[in-house]
Amino acid sequence: MAQNVKSGDQKFSLARNDLKMAHIYDVGSKDIQTVMGRYVAIEKMKIALGDRVIDFGCGPGNLDFDIADIVGEEGYVFGFDPLPDCIDVARRKVTEKYVKIVRFELGKAEDVPKSAGTNYDHAVMSCMIHWTRRDEALDQGFMVLGKGGCVGISALPGDVVNPWREIKKRVLSQRSYWQLDSEQGLPHHPTEIELKSDLAKVGFIDIQSEVKTHHLAWADAEALMQWLEASTFDNFIPRGPKNTPENGLAEIEALRQVAREAMKGVFEKEYRVDKTDENDKRIAMDMKVLYVWGYKG
Ligand SMILES: C[S@@+](CC[C@H](N)C(=O)[O-])C[C@H]1O[C@@H](n2cnc3c(N)ncnc32)[C@H](O)[C@@H]1O
Repeated sequence: MAQNVKSGDQKFSLARNDLKMAHIYDVGSKDIQTVMGRYVAIEKMKIALGDRVIDFGCGPGNLDFDIADIVGEEGYVFGFDPLPDCIDVARRKVTEKYVKIVRFELGKAEDVPKSAGTNYDHAVMSCMIHWTRRDEALDQGFMVLGKGGCVGISALPGDVVNPWREIKKRVLSQRSYWQLDSEQGLPHHPTEIELKSDLAKVGFIDIQSEVKTHHLAWADAEALMQWLEASTFDNFIPRGPKNTPENGLAEIEALRQVAREAMKGVFEKEYRVDKTDENDKRIAMDMKVLYVWGYKG
């Protein structure tokens, strides 16, 4: 039986997500998160024809259709996510071709929906572990896998400062933003060592990892900002402390908009490129991504 690993308290809210944000995320994630999901699922977990795969925190499900193309009709893909708008977007994409292979349900990683069943060959956790109570999510991953099954995680490493995190920190450290509590809304990104040790604690074996640099590009600074907001359910720019009085909220919101424009200005100034591989993309940056995978013995 897997043991529990402690995670910190979560300070963000999923409540601000809506259908518009789910659509922005759906479009943007095809070039960004799905690249990471595919890398861990195909290169590292080696998902193959006929496999049964469960996708924790599937968002609008882009990765699951790629996986469905690999596992085929003898396989099965179950994706779940706590955001109803994302599940709605995902379900609308289930065409005739996928109807027997892919299923999407509402649910949290800490409490996998009963309808998922067990005995999976693979459990994918792509770009989502930082939003969960990690100990419980990994425990559930262990439970739903069959013997020899593989869990695969992609995440931003907690000990590496990626460009937008550095820019956010730099902008918000200016005195004029003192009211924006920079700690609020921040999920905990695990380090490579933390994640590998957590996997071992819940019972996984043969744990391996890799940190890989991906080159990412967006049409412009606004597109990057919208993607950052959509992929964090509007938690990217923090709000005031929880005890901010109601009459202070408009002031905080206005300050957030000023900070938003300031960050976009830095993206434009420091990450603008004249030409990228994709001609219509003008903001580009390198990002380090952590991949960890392990097996249920
Ligand atoms: C950045 S998105 C990644 C979505 C998808 N895995 C992908 O690679 O495109 C993070 C996802 O984690 C989900 N999430 C947040 N808290 C979660 C939880 N407790 N359990 C499962 N998923 C969660 C969000 O709803 C969101 O869809």
